[in-house]
Amino acid sequence: MRRLPPPTALLCALLLTSGTGCAPAGTTVRPADSATAGAKGVGDPLFPAMGNGGYEVEHYGLSLTYEPKDGSLTGTAEISARTDRALSSFSLDFHGLQIDRATVDGATAAATRAGDALRLTPAKELAADTAFTAVISYHGVPEALTDPDGSQEGWLKTPDGAVALGEPNGSMAWFPGNHHPSDKAAYDLTVTVPEGMTAVSNGELGKQETANGRTSFAWHTAEPMASYLATVAIGSFTLDRTAAGTVPQTVAIHTAQAKRAADVPSWVASATDWGARLFGPYPFSSTGATIGSGPSIDYALETQTRPYFNHAPDEISVVHEIAHQWFGDSVTPGSWQDMWLNEGFATYAEWLWQEQHGGPTAADTFAEYYALPATDDLWSFAPAKPPSAEEVSGDPVYYRGAMTLQKLRETIGDTAFFTILRTWTTDHRHGNVRTTDFTDLCAKATGKNLTPLFEKWLYTSGKPTTP
Ligand code: TRP
Ligand code: ZN
Repeated sequence: MRRLPPPTALLCALLLTSGTGCAPAGTTVRPADSATAGAKGVGDPLFPAMGNGGYEVEHYGLSLTYEPKDGSLTGTAEISARTDRALSSFSLDFHGLQIDRATVDGATAAATRAGDALRLTPAKELAADTAFTAVISYHGVPEALTDPDGSQEGWLKTPDGAVALGEPNGSMAWFPGNHHPSDKAAYDLTVTVPEGMTAVSNGELGKQETANGRTSFAWHTAEPMASYLATVAIGSFTLDRTAAGTVPQTVAIHTAQAKRAADVPSWVASATDWGARLFGPYPFSSTGATIGSGPSIDYALETQTRPYFNHAPDEISVVHEIAHQWFGDSVTPGSWQDMWLNEGFATYAEWLWQEQHGGPTAADTFAEYYALPATDDLWSFAPAKPPSAEEVSGDPVYYRGAMTLQKLRETIGDTAFFTILRTWTTDHRHGNVRTTDFTDLCAKATGKNLTPLFEKWLYTSGKPTTP
């Protein structure tokens, strides 16, 4: 939906290495209106294959039918997008599943696969700045993917169903798309499952219909969503709408977790309202959570409006994932390098929650982390510069990211600090950001030279010699 252009030089370097061509100075440049193949990748330094050039998606209409018995998925993806240049073909990220048919604007399009890239060549070239619709039908047994850091994502089987989790790139395992956080879109996701099971997704539940032993659940997400935040959870869930603060709320609880998760709905409501007071208006039309039963993943995920926990969480984990709704889901990094804008902020939200609920102050928590020896993983790289894809979820991104915010708060004072948090979520609501957008805002809002602070805490690896 909204795209942050990657640095041109970098994009050119990637296009050159991928052979797609990026005219160096002095060579003939094609006229702007001549159709070319849309690039594979959007120039993300850590995930060069992810995302695609030449278009932006406005809306995904996904219809999925899942059969838990044999793990098979049958899907149709209707992708409404807009070209940003004339295209002879374009690419989508898609892993594994077989394509049955692809059309662009109603006419059959040629579909070719190369690894996780699906390239569609429409019968007719697409003009620049033009809306088009691609419809892709597919089927197969979707797979779990192993993250660069070793954790599991993609389509994960659970004891009685499945869950789809997509950070950083697992969403390509269950629908074709422009799978990079810089291209956000609205979603309508309809999931059909055997009668008696429930299919949970993002946003609000519309129609629920049963026919021929199957039930369809239609979920609607109006606000822009990065594809890594899209989710589906299938199994024996009940939808709890009893607890709610000021935002409509749906908490899906697996029946096997009902007792242990009894407090979760009220925690979600209080974390959502607490966040709204501190960070600015809640950015989506509903809040909630999904409490699953398995699989054995060791993380929770801030799936939009409905963070996923693989078993009943504790209160502070709810606070972390709800805080992501502002930091990550609404205000989304335009590049995976800037992950500290997600995790540093969500971790700092935990510190603030504890400080305001009878726990240690954020300054105390900072001191605990600062006490870790220089050999600790916490100091292994600079939070705004994760050196590789497997390190985007490393300790510095979370804890040293949060430490940076504590140092900022101490330097500029509480009033300026909390005003900046709200300005950040307002200015970039539903948008994409880079680290420099944040540091520029801090400088502008305070009139202070904060460069030394950010140099020290965000950009320099190793333990700072003074706190
Ligand atoms: N974002 C998750 C959290 O709330 C953790 C996580 C899951 C993650 N998968 C990831 C972080 C992949 C980075 C990359 O903390
Ligand atoms: Zn997080």
